[in-house]
Amino acid sequence: MDISSLAAFLARTKTTPISVHDKRSILVWLDALEAEQPSRRTEPETILDGETYYYLRNLPDEARAFFFWVFDRLVILEKPRQQRFVRLVLLGVGQWGLDCKKRVPTVTEFKAEFCVRLKDSLQEFFQFVSAVATKSQIPRCRLSSMRRIINRSSEACDDDGRIPASWLPAKLVLTSPPYPGVHVVYHRWQIFGRKETPAPFWLANQRDGAGESHYLLGPRDEDELVTYYARLKTVFSSVRSLLDEDSLVIQLVAFSDPTWQLPAYLRTMEEAGFAESEAACDSAAKVAGRIWREVPGRKWYANKRGEIPASKEVMLLHKLVK
Ligand SMILES: C[S@@+](CC[C@H](N)C(=O)[O-])C[C@H]1O[C@@H](n2cnc3c(N)ncnc32)[C@H](O)[C@@H]1O
Repeated sequence: MDISSLAAFLARTKTTPISVHDKRSILVWLDALEAEQPSRRTEPETILDGETYYYLRNLPDEARAFFFWVFDRLVILEKPRQQRFVRLVLLGVGQWGLDCKKRVPTVTEFKAEFCVRLKDSLQEFFQFVSAVATKSQIPRCRLSSMRRIINRSSEACDDDGRIPASWLPAKLVLTSPPYPGVHVVYHRWQIFGRKETPAPFWLANQRDGAGESHYLLGPRDEDELVTYYARLKTVFSSVRSLLDEDSLVIQLVAFSDPTWQLPAYLRTMEEAGFAESEAACDSAAKVAGRIWREVPGRKWYANKRGEIPASKEVMLLHKLVK
């Protein structure tokens, strides 16, 4: 469940198995692409409709030329899931070339990276879904029936008819909520680390929902993050109804200022009807019964306040209050 259509796209594509036929079709398509030289020409802005124009905001010319060149050929792939797989790889290439980078790659560099990534991802993803299918003792094509991707807010989610009743109570909730007070741009790329572009939505063929606070459970500069904690409580109060006393909730959370935000977070979980459990392992990363780690690929400036630096995230374990 995620409020962002982009996050839902990623989850759906990464859990939709591809067949031997899909793999072969995409490789044949890629062979034809590799034999061509992408044009450096960008589309004249006058031919873009208003919506596309919005999504291309701040996107450098080289990237625009490359993405349009691929999109012109994408329709040749017959199945939507094949096209979605290519879009997923394009997102990775865009992030590699543009997000918080000092230099924009040339069209030729974009193409080279795309070709390598598409071949590798196809191979690795096919092996991955095959291994999951073997382990689960079901055919590859049935894997997607074992998941639901729901694009909505988790607030008041307990009566969503898309959650199969036979799957409840859930044994495990594994989640990473928006981090309180931290400026992480989940739905944009930052060109030269500054100018934001909504182009990821365009590449994923999804609609951009709203501004930053929509994706962050509230404005990150609000006093005491009142909206954030109130909405967090609504989320977990409804998640409660999907669980029983054996269910485990595991969360990874980082904070801009853990000294007051972590206690406020734990209080909110308590108010929503949860009790914290201690991590049952010995580890050097354990502080006061909780495991901390450096956030992988962290993109925000973090300072050290108190015992725990804001560059770390914590794993929180909760169960329902009996
Ligand atoms: C730290 S990211 C985690 C992303 C992803 N689920 C993962 O684990 O890699 C936080 C996610 O929470 C989503 N989010 C924010 N508000 C939400 C809400 N009210 N309901 C559901 N998801 C929300 C954001 O769109 C963002 O994708």
